[in-house]
Formats: sequence, C-alpha cells, structure tokens
Amino acid sequence: MKLEDFRNKKIIVTGHTGFKGSWLSTWLSLVGAKVYGISNNVPTQPSHFNFIKSFFEEDIECDIRDANSFKNYVSKIKPDYLFHLAAQSLVNFSYEDPRLTWETNLIGTINVLDSLRYIDNKCIAIFITSDKCYDNVEWTWGYRETDKLGGPDPYSASKGAAELAISSYFRSYFKKDSNIRLASARAGNVIGGGDWSANRLIPDCVKAWANNECVDLRNPFSTRPWQHVLEPIGGYMLLALALSERKELNGESFNFGPNLEKNYNVMDVVNEISKYWEKIEYNVESKEKQLFYESNLLKLNCDKALHNLNWKSCLGFEETISFTATWYKNFYDNPSRIVSITTDQINVYTELFFKKVLSNND
Ligand SMILES: NC(=O)c1ccc[n+]([C@@H]2O[C@H](COP(=O)([O-])OP(=O)(O)OC[C@H]3O[C@@H](n4cnc5c(N)ncnc54)[C@H](O)[C@@H]3O)[C@@H](O)[C@H]2O)c1
Repeated sequence: MKLEDFRNKKIIVTGHTGFKGSWLSTWLSLVGAKVYGISNNVPTQPSHFNFIKSFFEEDIECDIRDANSFKNYVSKIKPDYLFHLAAQSLVNFSYEDPRLTWETNLIGTINVLDSLRYIDNKCIAIFITSDKCYDNVEWTWGYRETDKLGGPDPYSASKGAAELAISSYFRSYFKKDSNIRLASARAGNVIGGGDWSANRLIPDCVKAWANNECVDLRNPFSTRPWQHVLEPIGGYMLLALALSERKELNGESFNFGPNLEKNYNVMDVVNEISKYWEKIEYNVESKEKQLFYESNLLKLNCDKALHNLNWKSCLGFEETISFTATWYKNFYDNPSRIVSITTDQINVYTELFFKKVLSNND
C-alpha cells in the first residue's frame, strides 16, 4: 500500500476550506490526486485554505444541507474517494446554535451518505466524526469503538447521531454487493498550523501572543488526546487505501489518537508552546465564568487501528508542538513562506509515516 495509489484519483473532500480539510487536500494533491473541495464558505480569516487554493482541481461552494445540489455534484464528479469533514465543528458554538449544528452534522452527513446511493462507480468514503461521539463518563480508560455513543452538548450528540446514520446507511444500502465502501474515523483535538477557529486552545494562544495580549485559558487541567493534524489525516488516508483493498473493513469505525503513555493537559501544551514565543501572558478563567459544560478527561483506545491498519501516531508531544509553533511563527513573521512551510511539514511527516506505518503494511 502506498500513498501514490491516490495519483490521478478523483477525490471529494468536504470541508476543504477548514483546518483539517485544508491539510488533507494539500497532502492528497501532493501525491498526485485530483481534489474536488466542497464547502459552503471559508470559515475563518486568516485561513490556511486561502494559501493552498491552487492545489485543487475544483473549489466548489455548496451547502451540505442542500441535498439535491450536493447529490448533483457527486453524480457529476463520480469520485473514486470521498472524505467527509464538513461540519459545525465547535462545541461552544453548538450551544449557541444547536439547530444549525444538528442540521449540518446529522442531516449534512445523511445527505452525503444518500448522494452515494446514486453513483454507479466504485467509491471509498471516509466519514470523519469525532472522539466526542462517545458518551463521555470521564473514566480513566480510553474509549473503544464499541463503547456507547452520545454526548451532553449538541455538538457531541450530533456526532454520535451521525455515527448511527453512517451505520444505518451501511447496513441498509452498502453492506452487500455495493459499489460503495465506507468507514468512520474518530479523532480528537488536533493541533497544527493554520487553525484559527474560535475557542480552540492553540489559535487562542497564538492570536493573543502575536498581538502581545493575554490569553484566557479555560480548564487548565483538562486532558485531551492532543495530536498533530497530520496524524489523524494520515490515518484517514491509510484507512481509505486499506478499505479499497480489504472488503472486511467495510462499515467499520476506527479511533485515531495519540499514544496513551502520558496524559497532557492544557497547561502542558501552553508551557511547551510558550517556549517558542519571547513573551507570553495567560489568565485562567474561573469556573463561574464558563457558560457551558466541558469534559475534563477524554482518551481514545487506538488498538483497533494498530491491529487492523498498523497505524500509530508518529510524532511525540514535543515534535507536535514544534511543528505547530514553527508554522505559526512563520505565519506571523513571514506569511509568504506558508505554502512551503505546509508542504515541507507534509514531506517530513510523510517520511516518518512511511517508516513507521506504511512500510509495515506491505
Ligand atoms: N479540529 C479538531 O480538533 C477536531 C476534533 C474532532 C473532530 N473534528 C472533526 O473534523 C472535521 C473537520 O474539523 P475542522 O477542525 O477542520 O473544522 P473547521 O471548522 O475548521 O472546518 C469545517 C469545514 O466545514 C465546512 N462547512 C461547515 N458547514 C458546512 C455546510 N453546511 N456545508 C458545507 N460545508 C460546511 C466549512 O466551510 C469548513 O470547510 C469536522 O467534522 C470536525 O467535527 C475536528
């Protein structure tokens, strides 16, 4: 199995203007794929997507809640692969607009699934949900793919519900004698250059520090499965390639998370990334100021991905922060270098990915 298997393949990436979608699209394009990006807008300013626009075969503006338009694009493109990442991706915002969150994350996912029923070419589809799809009871063990789905906030619940829709479409339409193979992928809290979403730790820190401002931190002792954005993205690409070769993976779900040897909390991340700035300031928000519930502990068990795909994360904690800090430092000091920083980081990661993951799949 090799990444060059994507060469000349037609690949739809929904959510290509977002943080993860922009990295996935760039990587796919660098290995020779024809990437068709579908999103309804460019969600942030600044935006990583604005730098890497030229990597796309087509950049399509379409709302995934519009079932007919989406279906028409899919029928016209006839993709070999589809990666579904478009979502309302923010937990805090999901409390403000639960309806939009449910419509985008559940109905949008159903529209993507449904569009696959109308194409007659072979297509491998990877649905990106979240680690938050699990009913988080704050236990100390990592969640396994068979654990209960659910979630207290609209975002988490909509991701759990999307998983149910994916499973139902698989069992109803794509399980037997179908030209479609699909799988879902659950990762969480990725960090890396090019994220400017609101209320996420790294963007909040770098935006504040670049302007010599103080950053407000919520829940400094919460642990998260922090990983660099390229780690789950490598997992999604590997899963897609494996699925095209092995039909027993059809309909399966996989966790993609960091090694569980050590837990890192918000303060660990802030301390490590602060080494790359001359001057930093932070303030810890009191619990009373926090309007919404946020979980304290969330870990993923990734044994299934290791066992079935030989997948494991390739970067340690310090390297993850170093990739991330280097990207943002370049962005603020010399933005004209950003395309080469992105492609350099993908090339360095690809080498590691080949050595530690792909070479074990031959
Ligand atoms: N970033 C993380 O830490 C993280 C963690 C777990 C899961 N995820 C999941 O990974 C996926 C990508 O996350 P991200 O961080 O890149 O998100 P993002 O917010 O940066 O990007 C979201 C993308 O979806 C598109 N989009 C939103 N609503 C749409 C609609 N109605 N129609 C068409 N496009 C729409 C946006 O334009 C954008 O391209 C999402 O499904 C998210 O829930 C992300």
